[in-house]
Amino acid sequence: MLEHGAAPPAADSDPRPPTPAGLGTRLMRRKPVERLVAEGGQGEGGTLRRSMGVWQLTMISIGATLGTGIFVVLGQAVPDAGPAVILSFVLAGITALFSALSYAELAGTIPVSGSSYSYAYATLGELIAWVCGWCLILEYGVSVAAVAVGWGQYLNELLDGTFGFTIPDALSAPPGDGGIFNLPALLVVLLAMVFLLGGAKESARANTIMVAVKIVALLLFCGVAIQGVHSGNYANFMPLGMTGVSAAGATLFFSYIGFDAASTAGEEAKNPQRDLPRAIMLSLIIVTTLYCLVAAIAVGAMPWQKFKGSEAALAGIMKDVSGQDFWAVLLAFGAVIAIASVVLTVLYGQTRILFAMSRDGLVPKVFSKVHAKSGAPRANTVIVSLFCGVLAAAIPLGQLADATSIGTLFAFALVNVAVVVLRYKRPEMPRSFRTPLSPLFPVIGFILCILMMLSLDVVTWIVFGVWMVVGLVIYFGYGMRRSRLAPAEK
Ligand code: ALA
Repeated sequence: MLEHGAAPPAADSDPRPPTPAGLGTRLMRRKPVERLVAEGGQGEGGTLRRSMGVWQLTMISIGATLGTGIFVVLGQAVPDAGPAVILSFVLAGITALFSALSYAELAGTIPVSGSSYSYAYATLGELIAWVCGWCLILEYGVSVAAVAVGWGQYLNELLDGTFGFTIPDALSAPPGDGGIFNLPALLVVLLAMVFLLGGAKESARANTIMVAVKIVALLLFCGVAIQGVHSGNYANFMPLGMTGVSAAGATLFFSYIGFDAASTAGEEAKNPQRDLPRAIMLSLIIVTTLYCLVAAIAVGAMPWQKFKGSEAALAGIMKDVSGQDFWAVLLAFGAVIAIASVVLTVLYGQTRILFAMSRDGLVPKVFSKVHAKSGAPRANTVIVSLFCGVLAAAIPLGQLADATSIGTLFAFALVNVAVVVLRYKRPEMPRSFRTPLSPLFPVIGFILCILMMLSLDVVTWIVFGVWMVVGLVIYFGYGMRRSRLAPAEK
């Protein structure tokens, strides 16, 4: 056990003098690492249970990462990069890697559920922490809704392949997208909610099975499709040059979002200091290897020009190579399970981030209430699920889904800054994992995140700007006054 975990100061110790503070002081107030760690697990009326080891934590990160990106977005990225889409995956993976190293260091040092929100609170002050938490709602809450919408499309494909019918548009698309209500999207979120209400251990178990299914589905794809690989398909390897490779890389960054999900389980891990960094790095290695393998085989088995407009490219390749519909149905099944596990784990992450924010007073107390029997924040889970479910069912998400990437990249950029700040302010702190070559690597991580943000389009920036303004209004109207670091102002 690390020192800071073994001997924390009293949870209610407040380092600030009890005098009214100026606005600048309020916005910059930081929560000491020791206090963050000491409060770990504590909620209103109960505590979260520590039940997960490195295996489950790795599965949470893989569960949150591997889904729509490889099953859907790959097909959209190939027309930009050609066979060099393999390099686009590597490029996006490298961007993720630098931030993953920073996440690994902070998750091992400050192993609490708030993830980057809590890291920012310890290092960059309350306002930035709030901004970070608000961005995480884009990464987690909004992306659950976006991913759930994609689930409905694959469900229809599976139903069509197995039973010959599909859910009509009126019930599988929101108003504005040719329907009335997206029922499958709501259903998958409610299903995930039921698992989460049972507790983290049960959810982790279900997730592990789903992760196994999606990995097997992708390996099966590799096993079948490799038989159709022609070296000629790689001949014109980079038809659109490096510009195409980096454009596809920015699109494919979406497929890496989620590797940080294990860090939201800091208060339910048995040995978080040791296991969180391992889980984050291990999941990124496994996912990157799978992505590159699947991409290499996919572009080897089908000429890159044919990817344009093909919605379920992987299923199509399997069907063409084997000459049997069966494989496409099997892949659709894999995708249905894959995307459901993204919904489950990302929803889990969102509830835990709000749990930490609520404990700090920045969002209402109901989010940190713990159900005594299950050890799960049940009220929080129900509210978040209903919010995400209705968002997924009733709103065409298009641009909002793109905002997921910009919010995530901003949160990642802040984590890179937080590593450097904590190294500078608390060099003596025990760290179970250290980012190599700090501050060089975190600075590279920061620059890569900003560059990728800049490659996103103007509309996405506008959505992001509006989101930030709403967040700041909520903070100044609610969080700043109710912060638990503000006893003098109450
Ligand atoms: N990385 C997640 C996915 O690809 C968001 O579905």
